[in-house]
Amino acid sequence: MPEQIKVLIVDDNDDTRDGTRRLLEYEDNIEIVGFADNGQSAVDQASELKPSVILMDINMPVMDGLTATELIKSSHPEIQIIVVSVQDDAHYMRQAFQKGAFDFIAKPITSAELAHAIERANQEHTRASMQQAMQPPQQVQQTSRQDDHRIVASRPDLNGQVIAVMGLKGGVGKTTIAVSLGVGLARLMPDQKVLIVDSNLLFGDLAVFLSTRSDYNILNVIEMASDPEGIDIQTAESVFVPHESGAKLLLAPANPGEAQPVSAEQFVQTLNQLRRDFHYIIVDTATTFDPISVAVIRTADRMVVVATPTMPALKDARLLFNELTGAEFPSEHILLVLNEVDKSSRITREQISNFLKHEVVAEIPDDPFAIEAVNNGRPLIAMDSKRSVAVRPLMNLVQLVRDSVSDSGTSDEHLVEEQRRGGIFGSILGG
Ligand SMILES: Nc1ncnc2c1ncn2[C@@H]1O[C@H](COP(=O)(O)OP(=O)(O)OP(=O)(O)O)[C@@H](O)[C@H]1O
Ligand SMILES: [Mg+2]
Repeated sequence: MPEQIKVLIVDDNDDTRDGTRRLLEYEDNIEIVGFADNGQSAVDQASELKPSVILMDINMPVMDGLTATELIKSSHPEIQIIVVSVQDDAHYMRQAFQKGAFDFIAKPITSAELAHAIERANQEHTRASMQQAMQPPQQVQQTSRQDDHRIVASRPDLNGQVIAVMGLKGGVGKTTIAVSLGVGLARLMPDQKVLIVDSNLLFGDLAVFLSTRSDYNILNVIEMASDPEGIDIQTAESVFVPHESGAKLLLAPANPGEAQPVSAEQFVQTLNQLRRDFHYIIVDTATTFDPISVAVIRTADRMVVVATPTMPALKDARLLFNELTGAEFPSEHILLVLNEVDKSSRITREQISNFLKHEVVAEIPDDPFAIEAVNNGRPLIAMDSKRSVAVRPLMNLVQLVRDSVSDSGTSDEHLVEEQRRGGIFGSILGG
């Protein structure tokens, strides 16, 4: 029997409370531990019952749900709160996230949607509880609300490194490698914050590779980044999907119909703002050459170029190298990786290096378990290294990338570098 997720239901309306209970009736892994009919009672019951997840209504007598959310989060940061609203109101949503809610859902909602939201919140609860257990006691002591605000305002700039994974040919293994890099870096350095970004707005499949989903996606963060106030990290946290490796995921829209045009400028802005809150930002890219790829080339600190040892892929890799050279992307910051290397391949590593005028830094073998990994929503790097031949080379690649960025990078360097590359791309960016 899986461990039960303890849920507290807060709503002033008897019928609504009961309706929510019934929605979750058949979920084996969810246990309703209590009910509250106002915010104050929710605060009291949160301390007493220690639920993992709270479903919180907004408008209630005595104390409203947003105030209760703020109070509960300040004393029990590990408890995750899902604010349930009767309407999809952007104003309430922003407020809920600012008060520390994990998620915001609008009615009507199906039992599957609710159960999924609770599961995601519970994953975050597990992660936050573990993090708390690892911290020395004085750091988990309560902070006052004023202190909380000060912490946010003065939170350190992590000055993260953007590592893009590119390849102009479809299906060469960009997503496989981006996922393995992100998960590998997060595992290698549990104290470092890693974000994997799916920048393929039309056909991104990061969510499929890691078997997850979310109601929010990268467009929400791009929109925030364009706002004069910039990305509010508390709100953005509810868009990032936590992965069990410790990495966070920023997914693409779930279906192509939701995609919207994004300018290179907007995407540059987004990545640069995200640098504040992550040490490593891995960007998986689409095969097309569009404003997003222009932005990625302009912003990335390292470029992992993926090709397979086949003529069509190498021809396209050469085109990409030409683009990168034209954009004055520093050649020493490009890591050329050969994927799906097969023993019977007639084209040697040396021939490829000569053809692309660039050293091959890693070869990832053709691995029959790659398909099993994708179909089970597991990163290839997390497969059993005794069976899966790609695991060790992928781990080596993770270390190589880490070493390649570990001794470089300050904010000023990013800026100078980006301005320099902007010279060539200025025309494409329209200014
Ligand atoms: N080393 C490998 N050995 C065997 N199969 C692999 C390997 N790497 C990736 N694959 C498989 O190749 C297919 C394409 O991989 P992936 O989706 O990562 O490529 P992509 O470049 O991201 O594709 P797209 O252009 O569609 O974004 C997947 O089914 C994946 O499991
Ligand atoms: Mg892909």
